[in-house]
Amino acid sequence: MWGGRFAAGPASIMREINASIPFDKRLWQQDIAGSKAHVAMLAQQGIVDGEDAQAITEGLNRIAAEYEADGVPVDLDLEDIHMVTESRLAQLIGPTAGRLHTARSRNDQVATDFRLWVRDAIDEVAAGLLGLQRALLARAEEHADAVMPGFTHLQSAQPVTLGHHLMAYYEMVRRDRSRFADARARADECPLGAAALAGTGFPIDRQATAEALGFARPTDNSLDSVSDRDFALDYLMAATQASLHLSRLAEEFIIWASQPFGFVKLPDAYSTGSSIMPQKRNPDAAELVRGHAGRIMGCMTALCVTMKGLPLAYSKDMQDDKPPVFEAHDLLGLSIAAMTGMIETVTFRTDRMRGLAESGFATATDLADWLVREGGIPFREAHHITGRAVAAAEAAGVPLDQLPIATLKDIDARIDDRVYAVLTVDASVASRTSHGGTAPAQVRARIAQAKKELDS
Ligand code: ARG
Repeated sequence: MWGGRFAAGPASIMREINASIPFDKRLWQQDIAGSKAHVAMLAQQGIVDGEDAQAITEGLNRIAAEYEADGVPVDLDLEDIHMVTESRLAQLIGPTAGRLHTARSRNDQVATDFRLWVRDAIDEVAAGLLGLQRALLARAEEHADAVMPGFTHLQSAQPVTLGHHLMAYYEMVRRDRSRFADARARADECPLGAAALAGTGFPIDRQATAEALGFARPTDNSLDSVSDRDFALDYLMAATQASLHLSRLAEEFIIWASQPFGFVKLPDAYSTGSSIMPQKRNPDAAELVRGHAGRIMGCMTALCVTMKGLPLAYSKDMQDDKPPVFEAHDLLGLSIAAMTGMIETVTFRTDRMRGLAESGFATATDLADWLVREGGIPFREAHHITGRAVAAAEAAGVPLDQLPIATLKDIDARIDDRVYAVLTVDASVASRTSHGGTAPAQVRARIAQAKKELDS
């Protein structure tokens, strides 16, 4: 493609290090679409005549059918998807094929193809995240009243409901989807027509190609157009944060599935056994979701580091932008699907959760709050009195609500037997009615609102 200037061909190692076709063949649909939009515009502007444009378009259609049927041929000599397609076009229609590259460079071509690809990738992820939100909502609704221990420092803190806990992940996924939507909106500008770096003297219509490819508008600076990979970084950063959330949820499942917790029974379909220990049921899918998050973050870091030292405009380093995005996208898709499947099919052992919520003095804060409310005692003093009640319950080996009233009165005479009404876990969760609180009524209200959000 640049033979005019060179006397010798590339060394074989040059051919190998230079080639991106082994991975950028994944852009073939976007490459064909970009070329068709470009040639249609060239014809409309009278830069290429109508017959040539038609031959080129028909050739491109035929190449698309070939790729669809047989895959993209990988020829390292042809470097990338742009050259593989152009050289096949020349085989099919002869020298007219050479007119396609008028007023265009591979620099704006690859930037356009990759944006189109990332835009589709975002749509796929958004659909997956929506499915995950629906799964979380359904299970949260089912368990809006189920009491479980809520943790801070992984120590029993206050009772919460399982529905509330699941809805916490719903909120994270909601923000993830919004981050992908933001990324999509920013990626919605078409770099095609920036040419190599400086624009072109041909009377092209950038608005037309942008529109034909479904972009909101053309980009506004040709140098930026060919050297910008923010759209890929935006994707990877959104993917990083989504995978971080998925990993936290996976970690909960791993802890919950352990025998000492026993909060869930993971479905057979997402567990594996051990070849040596017949009793084992390992949470492999959850562990891999946790592991994949590390790899996705690695992909994000890789592209940040690739880009951070590059002057304007295009440098070949940027060819390395695609593998991390492809890898992250595949890993994220798998992780979302696996987590959604687990959420949909996991068995929650709500009796076990309730038992542990009742045994961990988790209603101690409710006793302190009662002392404040009914006894007019300052919270710090109430906290101290409650601490003594917990110590007494611990010594007697009973939950707080089974301490005799005499014992409680010994600790503080202002306590009377109305206190028992707040010491059960059900009373505790039902009382947390503040906005965003764990009371089943609050959780149900949020679920109802979330359903509307998802349907709109
Ligand atoms: N294969 C290249 C890439 O993926 C295409 C752009 C090549 N441009 C260039 N000036 N060598 O980035």
